[in-house]
Amino acid sequence: MKRKKKNLPEIESEPIDALSYEEMKLLHIEHEKSEDRSQLPPHDQSDKAKLFRFVKKNKIVTVAAIVILLSLVAGVIFGAYWLISLWVNRPNTSDFTVELGEEEPFTVPYDEMVRDGVLYVDLRKLAPFADLIVSGSPEQMQFTAKTGTFLSFENESEIARINGKRVEMLVPEFRGDKEISAKAFITAEACYVPYYFLKNTVSDGLQFRFNNETNTLSFRRTFTGEVDEEDQPIASTVLFFTNQYKILPEEGEVIYEYSYLIDIEPYLESITAENLLLANKQNPLGPDFKPALEQITVKTASNRILYLNADAAKALEAMVKEMNEAGVTDVMVTSAYRKYDRQKELWEQYCREEKAKHPDWTTEQIEAEVLTYSAYPGTSEHQTGLCVDFMTSTMTALNNSFEKTKAFSWLVDNAHRFGFILRYDKDKVDVTGYSYESWHYRFVGRAVATEIYEQDICLEEYLAGNS
Ligand code: DAL
Ligand code: ZN
Repeated sequence: MKRKKKNLPEIESEPIDALSYEEMKLLHIEHEKSEDRSQLPPHDQSDKAKLFRFVKKNKIVTVAAIVILLSLVAGVIFGAYWLISLWVNRPNTSDFTVELGEEEPFTVPYDEMVRDGVLYVDLRKLAPFADLIVSGSPEQMQFTAKTGTFLSFENESEIARINGKRVEMLVPEFRGDKEISAKAFITAEACYVPYYFLKNTVSDGLQFRFNNETNTLSFRRTFTGEVDEEDQPIASTVLFFTNQYKILPEEGEVIYEYSYLIDIEPYLESITAENLLLANKQNPLGPDFKPALEQITVKTASNRILYLNADAAKALEAMVKEMNEAGVTDVMVTSAYRKYDRQKELWEQYCREEKAKHPDWTTEQIEAEVLTYSAYPGTSEHQTGLCVDFMTSTMTALNNSFEKTKAFSWLVDNAHRFGFILRYDKDKVDVTGYSYESWHYRFVGRAVATEIYEQDICLEEYLAGNS
């Protein structure tokens, strides 16, 4: 069927060139824009608006720029803070001021006081102020308080001794938080010891203060609360104690083999303790030296109550026990610790006796004679509480007849095993300054006593040999 043609009106139109799709689209957009623009206020040309338009168009670039900017600002703030804190916390390397009580303070260069990250103090300089007796040599130095308690140090060694017991000098790092092992540095003039080790080992007699900002170390004496005849306050005696320090086993003990008849275990700590306090004509103790004492437990002449330093008393007990076990039973102690006043009485008595024997001698001649066998008050080793005089029931007086006893023979061969030495030997008169005393035994500790015995030397030679 033939479709009927619709009767549409003819449109008369001018022939136009056909537009492409893209051209049409552009025209449409232009049209829309022109419509929009007509609605908007006049175009804003300010920087703010430009920036806003830029941000709107370039979002990622903007975010990146903001992040970079913020990082830069944070970096600058952090850097400034770091520099300021470095400045504030910069180490104070100025020289140190040391104050000893009311004495004139003195200055010590920073490098002498701080070594290997540890704060030091020269104990030799402190010794007169703290009433410490200095003995030993630049290799090994001992500082003994008037209580008899002591510290000893070996040059460039981290091991020190507190009352003869070996300890490692562990101290806090200077301006740090680590704990480190510190050495002592000894020369002929000075003995630098770690400040905090000293502080930790003093339980009485001294107060310590360190001002971090001014690098000032202050030492003060503490007082008993009593006054002397001149109304001056009496300072408390310095007391050293092991406190936090762990006692280490003795070194070098393996070189010598020791065997005992008795059970030595309860005595071992005492016989291996070391005490090298030197009291002689050149090294006086002075009238005030009074060590901590314990009553001795062995047989004494006339059952007198006698005293010694605690380690010496224990070592003596072990020695006499072993002697008895070995069949030597006739032995007793006739003298142990002797206080200054007693030595003075003895000295004056000997002077009177010499005067009676030699009426024409001058006082100097008499004193020179007495000095060959008796110590001037304040210089006797008996005042250390570290030595004893032995005798037997067969003897009527203290003299070299002791040499003929079994006790002497046993002591000569065995005393060192208990830490004792024959102190004033025949062939050492020139060194010790005293005539031969077969009865006088001094406690030094087993290792040193064995060395002195093996090398046939006296205490002065031992101490000088270690210098
Ligand atoms: N007999 C000795 C040397 C003293 O008096 O200490
Ligand atoms: Zn004696």
